[in-house]
Amino acid sequence: MPYHDLRQYLRTLEEKGKLFRIAKEVDKDWELATVAKLVFRKIPDERRPALMFERVKGFSVPVVTGVLGASREVYALALETELNFEEIYRRWSKAQANPVPPALVNNGPCQEVVLRGDEVDLMQLPVPIWTVPHDPAPYFTSPYVIGRDPETGVRNVGTYRMQLKGKRKTGIYFGNNLQDLRRIIEKNERHNRPTPVAVVLGTDPVIGLVSVSKVPFGMDELAVAGGLRGKAVEVVKCKTSDLEVPATAEIVLEGEVPAGVREEEGPFGEYAGYMSRGGPSFVIDVKCVTTRRDPIFQAFVSQMPPSESSCIRGFGFGVPIYKKLKYDLGLPITDLHFKTAGGSTAYLVISMKKENEGQAKQAIWGAWAVLPRFAKFTVVVDDDIDVRDSFAVDWAMSFRVQPARDVFIEPNTLSVPLDPSVPIEGPVSDDSRALGSKIGIDATKKHEFPPIAFPPREHVLEVERRWKEYGLDRIS
Ligand SMILES: Cc1cc2nc3c(=O)[nH]c(=O)nc-3n(C[C@H](O)[C@H](O)[C@H](O)COP(=O)(O)O)c2cc1C
Repeated sequence: MPYHDLRQYLRTLEEKGKLFRIAKEVDKDWELATVAKLVFRKIPDERRPALMFERVKGFSVPVVTGVLGASREVYALALETELNFEEIYRRWSKAQANPVPPALVNNGPCQEVVLRGDEVDLMQLPVPIWTVPHDPAPYFTSPYVIGRDPETGVRNVGTYRMQLKGKRKTGIYFGNNLQDLRRIIEKNERHNRPTPVAVVLGTDPVIGLVSVSKVPFGMDELAVAGGLRGKAVEVVKCKTSDLEVPATAEIVLEGEVPAGVREEEGPFGEYAGYMSRGGPSFVIDVKCVTTRRDPIFQAFVSQMPPSESSCIRGFGFGVPIYKKLKYDLGLPITDLHFKTAGGSTAYLVISMKKENEGQAKQAIWGAWAVLPRFAKFTVVVDDDIDVRDSFAVDWAMSFRVQPARDVFIEPNTLSVPLDPSVPIEGPVSDDSRALGSKIGIDATKKHEFPPIAFPPREHVLEVERRWKEYGLDRIS
């Protein structure tokens, strides 16, 4: 059964022990981000919950973080699926092949409260400051920004960080010049027209997952969300534009991106673990805010990995590579993993049941072709190596690799502008000069190897059975 709204999903998380409520009052301008960050640092993925900050100093609205990606299990709960690429890939491709267009309804709880014009004051929302003292202002980190292509009429939903700039103004940052909403804005700017947008804060988690995923330009993300949840997303008309928004959303900001206006934006603590540079960027003039009567404010935790951002990106980027390698190229891929320390973009490990030499290199090139900016380090291992086990991967690299034969470096490749090792000049949103390099490592066996020096499985099982008898349970 699809989730009706964010609240129903939060109840599910709570029932599964994956939502932790913090009743102590927290300060949104330094404390909230530090608590969220340390939860990612101190609690391992298997046990890490989403957080609800019930009392935010000076505000009546609670804040939730980690609800899409506190951990891999939370991500799977949001998608209502099993925790493996095969199943996640199957869900996404089925949804894209069978999109379900949204259903327009007359009214919805997202418009229980309507504030227009001078009544709008974004400072009344508990928007956190994330990286003290470097971020210049509070930031909306999980906006699902809805726009419409002026030429085709097709809707787009995407997540782009938004700096709080005033009572009725925010910034909006596009990581590269091909982000879909940016293309829509530029189409309007050619005619000197503003771009109407509706910013959804908190709703059915599936809508969040499509918002952060690369759905082909020209495909309605809300219809893909309908395909994922197996039921149309109910939408209502905005109060000040002809855009539509999910009827059960918590908070909606209606506004427009004025043509030709750029203002300083950032710097902002980004997912690579460093501050991204500031620079001129687009703005949103907010004309109307609609909310539920007792709204919940949702935010993504980013900054230094591990973070909610790295969890979501790991799946979001892994799925298209898995699809390309396994189904389009027919390679015997068994698993893949973007390492969290690399912000789930820089360091990729692929495992395969290699059938012939050359397939490892083909897999590396295939991954780079799908996401040319990412996977700066790509390692291919045999299928006996668990791609999520760093020790096992290091072991394979240590004893299955001869560097002169198995390592190659590719210069002048696209790269991630947010990676500070990449030297770039120019404005913040111009990534055209972000050239870097990549390294591919074939850590598969190239000839017959001697047997592994480890006790046989039956002995291991027997000793595990007797573990207590040795008294070793007391120290392990
Ligand atoms: C936590 C998180 C934060 C993100 N922030 C930004 C951002 O500030 N700017 C941006 O261009 N993309 C950002 N992204 C990536 C976009 O959401 C993603 O590329 C999405 O596909 C954009 O939608 P679009 O394909 O419709 O343009 C973020 C992703 C995540 C998971």
